[in-house]
Amino acid sequence: MISLKSIAAALWFLACVTNYVESAKILAVFPFPGPSQYICVQSYLKTLAARGHEVTSVSAFPQKTPLKNFRDITIHIDQSHHDEAVISAIEQIAVGKLAELQFAKEYTSLTSLLVFNNEDFQQLLHSDEQFDLIIIEVFYQDALYALGKHFKAPIIGVSSFGADIVIDQLVDNVSPLAYVPAPSGMNMDRMNFWQRLDNLYANTMELLYTHLEIIPEQQRYYEKYFPNATLRLTDVRRDFSLLLLNQHYSFSWPRPLVPNAIEVAGMHIENKLKKLPTDMEAFINASSRGAIYFSLGSNVKSALLPKQKLQEIMNAFASLPVNVLWKFEKTDLAGKPKNVFINKWFPQSDVLAHPKVKLFVTHGGMHSLIEAVHHAKPIVGTPVFYDQYLNVEKAVYKGFGVGINFRNFTSTELRDAILEVLNNPKYTERAREISASFHDRPMNPLDTAIYWTEYVLRHKGAPQLRVAARHLNFLQRHSVDTMAVLFGIPLLLAIFLFYGVFQVLAALFSSNDNAHKKRKRD
Ligand SMILES: *[C@@H]1O[C@H](CO)[C@@H](O)[C@H](O)[C@H]1NC(C)=O
Ligand SMILES: *[C@@H]1O[C@H](CO)[C@@H](O)[C@H](O)[C@H]1NC(C)=O
Ligand SMILES: *[C@@H]1O[C@H](CO)[C@@H](O)[C@H](O)[C@H]1NC(C)=O
Repeated sequence: MISLKSIAAALWFLACVTNYVESAKILAVFPFPGPSQYICVQSYLKTLAARGHEVTSVSAFPQKTPLKNFRDITIHIDQSHHDEAVISAIEQIAVGKLAELQFAKEYTSLTSLLVFNNEDFQQLLHSDEQFDLIIIEVFYQDALYALGKHFKAPIIGVSSFGADIVIDQLVDNVSPLAYVPAPSGMNMDRMNFWQRLDNLYANTMELLYTHLEIIPEQQRYYEKYFPNATLRLTDVRRDFSLLLLNQHYSFSWPRPLVPNAIEVAGMHIENKLKKLPTDMEAFINASSRGAIYFSLGSNVKSALLPKQKLQEIMNAFASLPVNVLWKFEKTDLAGKPKNVFINKWFPQSDVLAHPKVKLFVTHGGMHSLIEAVHHAKPIVGTPVFYDQYLNVEKAVYKGFGVGINFRNFTSTELRDAILEVLNNPKYTERAREISASFHDRPMNPLDTAIYWTEYVLRHKGAPQLRVAARHLNFLQRHSVDTMAVLFGIPLLLAIFLFYGVFQVLAALFSSNDNAHKKRKRD
């Protein structure tokens, strides 16, 4: 079924891309070892390749079958190490902001080194291969940002969890702390005094830690692996042509963005739905009240949860009047209830698209939240770490979800939360409203990302999109120098004037006094 609207959209998109760029050579670097960061860009990179660009992708997730115009440089990581890191993250995050930042630093410097020490990557670095564009994940891997200058190509950053105060610096975006919450916190955009104080604290910590700990370390990598570089790393960091942000105001909040910071939440979702495997669909169909889907995402493996926790989850599911699909990474689960279907992988977006799937029980990862919004499904969220708390909080605040505490939920709490969302239609109604506003844009998110990427190619780095802040130093950028003159000089004058008047008065007074004394003596 082709609607008029979709024909119009297709024509409009064609019109936009007819000022096509010649096939470009693109180097994409996505070193983060967790699969979810790569999921964010996979459709985007494949689409670029399908449009005739030659894509070289550096990541831990090579294509399983060779793809035209697509070359993989594979970073080898020990997945068990990644699992351990995730488990220790789950334990550490409870400790606080500093521990979380330390963890991020250790993890990302490890990843930087994996990339820099990769033989194929080194070969590429020392080859005379040319690239027209660098696309890179922006998550504390600042030394790698030098690839832009190294290959004399414009650079595009992709952030899979949206903007934050550090990522802002790459394009001189601004996040006013009074109404733009940090993604790692728990605040919504309407903050009271204490929440604003908390947001100020979180952002300050993040900024200080980045500049005192992470960047000095990245500076060492920069000097070691780009010995010929002439720019300071500080300037390299400010030299991005474009930022693609995995966020959208429909399910979070409106916020200021410079023209080259573009919201593309949803670009990872393939627009064509695939048919579900028959056994999955039959299991969904078998449940007359609809089915629910449970997944903790790709980083947290539910098969690695403690036995006690698994038992609580199974007890909750067993007591439900609906069938449950559970992403579980082992083939057997002792004591699995009859109404539960386990599999190590589900085509998540297609499952959520199924009309009989009524609810998504999720860890609240960014992609999961976006897919829930895309398919208008309410959630029960049980966040595990980092931005997941805020993601679930957003769903609660917006009215399309309920949150429960991952560390201590009981089977009763889980069951009650699920039944609340299943039985109360307000959650599904809100999910539909939010979804409608999520979809109402001139171009879908993937086309938007492609459009702006090719825009950067067409316009040689598109300097016309960039605010001038990078030409100013810290004092200039914050108007400290001009304010000093505008307010400082009058203030100084006022002080001198006051002092002068005071002197005159004092002199008068003392001469009066002297005269008085003199008269008295006479
Ligand atoms: C630095 O320059 C030297 C000499 O031109 C060259 O051999 C080397 O490959 C360059 N290193 C990098 C990382 O570009
Ligand atoms: C599930 O139900 C739908 C709608 O009734 C039907 O089209 C589909 O073929 C069914 N699938 C299976 C595997 O039974
Ligand atoms: C779980 O922990 C949270 C915060 O630590 C607390 O507020 C909540 O009451 C706890 N729930 C249960 C069931 O113990």
